[in-house]
Amino acid sequence: MSVESQAGRGPEIENLLAEKRTFPPDPAFTARANVTAAIYDEANADYVGFWERQAKERLSWYTPFGETLQWDLPDAKWFVGGELNVAYNCVDRHVERGLGDRVAYHWIGEPGDTRTLTYADLLREVSKAANALLELGVRTGDRVAIYLPMIPELPIAMLACARIGAPHTVVFGGFSAEALSGRINDCGAKVLITADGGWRRGKKVGLKHHADEACTDAPTIEHVIVVDRFGDGVHMVPRRDHWWHDIVDRQSESCPPVPVDAEHMLYLLYTSGTTAKPKGILHTSAGYLLGSAFTHWAVFDIKPDDVYWCAADIGWVTGHSYIVYGPLANASTGIIYEGAPDTPEWDRWWQIVEDYKVTILYTAPTAIRAFMKQGETHPAGHDLSSLRLLGSVGEPINPEAWRWYREVIGGDRVPVVDTWWQTETGMILISPLPGVTTTKPGSATFPMPGIEADVVDADGRSVPLGGGGYLVLKRPWPAMLRGIYGDPERYRQTYWSRFPGMYFAGDGAKRDEEGYLWLLGRVDDVMNVAGHRISTTEVESALVDHRSVAEAAVVGKTDAISGQAIFAFVILKAGQQPSDALGVQLREHVAYVIGPIARPKYLMFVPDLPKTRSGKIMRRLLRDIAEGRALGDVTTLADANVVDTIRSNTGQAEEE
Ligand code: WTA
Repeated sequence: MSVESQAGRGPEIENLLAEKRTFPPDPAFTARANVTAAIYDEANADYVGFWERQAKERLSWYTPFGETLQWDLPDAKWFVGGELNVAYNCVDRHVERGLGDRVAYHWIGEPGDTRTLTYADLLREVSKAANALLELGVRTGDRVAIYLPMIPELPIAMLACARIGAPHTVVFGGFSAEALSGRINDCGAKVLITADGGWRRGKKVGLKHHADEACTDAPTIEHVIVVDRFGDGVHMVPRRDHWWHDIVDRQSESCPPVPVDAEHMLYLLYTSGTTAKPKGILHTSAGYLLGSAFTHWAVFDIKPDDVYWCAADIGWVTGHSYIVYGPLANASTGIIYEGAPDTPEWDRWWQIVEDYKVTILYTAPTAIRAFMKQGETHPAGHDLSSLRLLGSVGEPINPEAWRWYREVIGGDRVPVVDTWWQTETGMILISPLPGVTTTKPGSATFPMPGIEADVVDADGRSVPLGGGGYLVLKRPWPAMLRGIYGDPERYRQTYWSRFPGMYFAGDGAKRDEEGYLWLLGRVDDVMNVAGHRISTTEVESALVDHRSVAEAAVVGKTDAISGQAIFAFVILKAGQQPSDALGVQLREHVAYVIGPIARPKYLMFVPDLPKTRSGKIMRRLLRDIAEGRALGDVTTLADANVVDTIRSNTGQAEEE
């Protein structure tokens, strides 16, 4: 880069929002906590040795590994030569040591039906399902696609695949036939496991017809297994389709787990690029299992008597790592809830917490803000005193939402852990440890033990404390992705080429004077206003900080004077009315909280925002709306009507 262009450049991303409150760990929590501060020094002194010890302690091996790490950037091999079975580690070994009666999952269907699965139940069901796959000709290494609602058969199917070493690819139940066939074709899956449908907001969401449509375009699928959730009959294709209760129930309850290499592919999970075709993120067996198990134990402080609820969908990575693999490897007891948080009423989750005495809850900021919007009466009507830890993941959590979560859900007494990670990282990489770290609302705090993260400028140089830039990782970690399926060049390009020698996460971040990390959103979303690079997260947090605002999304709109101008989409809390006066107030509030440069030029009140199925705001679509352009790819959009509603409002976007 030339000297001229350097001289004209300000900071990579401005550091605008200052959050001063701190929450030290409760000494009573610390006294019982799984980890102490010493773990950081231990892990960082020799991270390879640290993971080696963890892998020997936490995992059961058929063949011990030799070298812990072979690192030939960007290709990592962890626990070289070791052999194990992931399902054995998640299920069998617990039963063998007498934990067969421990509950693995309390499952709650949306209409109120329930199922309890102990570890012994899980062993039986997983073995039968694995035998069914074998009967259909699935062999170690063959791919299996899973397209199911949040029912017990979903983790059972995943573990059945792991038992025979057949990599799975779970496709979120809300995706279309086209999204499903695209993923099946990318990985050449041989069998598809689906259901007639699942419950969502009191309605049957049919899956089988999407599955059928996908199969017409997916020649590699030889067989389809169908779970009968509704019992109202669906069309079954002769010879290709098999009811789960026919083919699984008649199988033997014994199915020996297949030992696989530590680096054997465990699963593929597709993440959508913004425009290009979805990437099949490839995770392997031992490193992934270790990473998810260790972090689940350390971050959530898991104890044998905990009732742990990760309220994500298993169809995205949070469910893979923190509903299925991590928790089961740790023999913990979890909740799976099939349906929507507002069915029948907005207190459904709080009823579940009360009924099952949930101790740990892990969810996303989008859910927290949706609850905030409904006010405090719903949580106040339930006994939430069993909760002892709250977690957040998926997006930057606005300080206001963080405080609401702690105060209203956590009774102002439980720690909140804001956990940063990605489908690609497989495991939590940046998070407080609840018995150790003094937290600040909105900060994911520090890298986990053994992880080295940094914030760098456009040239890859570490930004001094107080500055903003690009989040990178400087060492390999066990659960890291091993590639993009079938596309090594895209893997290298996307993650390892922007900054030589470092993994580029695609997120903006800043570090405050004390070294705390604050995530600033995807760098593709950063706005450039009159030469200032402003993070969407900080402006959104300033808006959410206002007492009338439930949720906000901001994007840059092309502007003749400032290059880009800030366009804010605002959702008000229940009972608040939009008005011009409130619009003015909100702009002033942002200017007051973070400075006049961040004052939105355009502001629009909206009833809803376009989000992905995992709850991330799709700013790309909002940019299209703000610019009045045709929409780009909308396949991952959760509710297509939202965009139309906002569009029909755009005439009303009020300019300052
Ligand atoms: C964002 C979800 C801020 C981030 C596990 C990341 C977060 C992307 C946080 C990955 C957090 C996730 N604070 N941002 N605590 N957690 N993100 O692959 O932009 O669905 O790159 O994995 O979500 O999303 P993914």
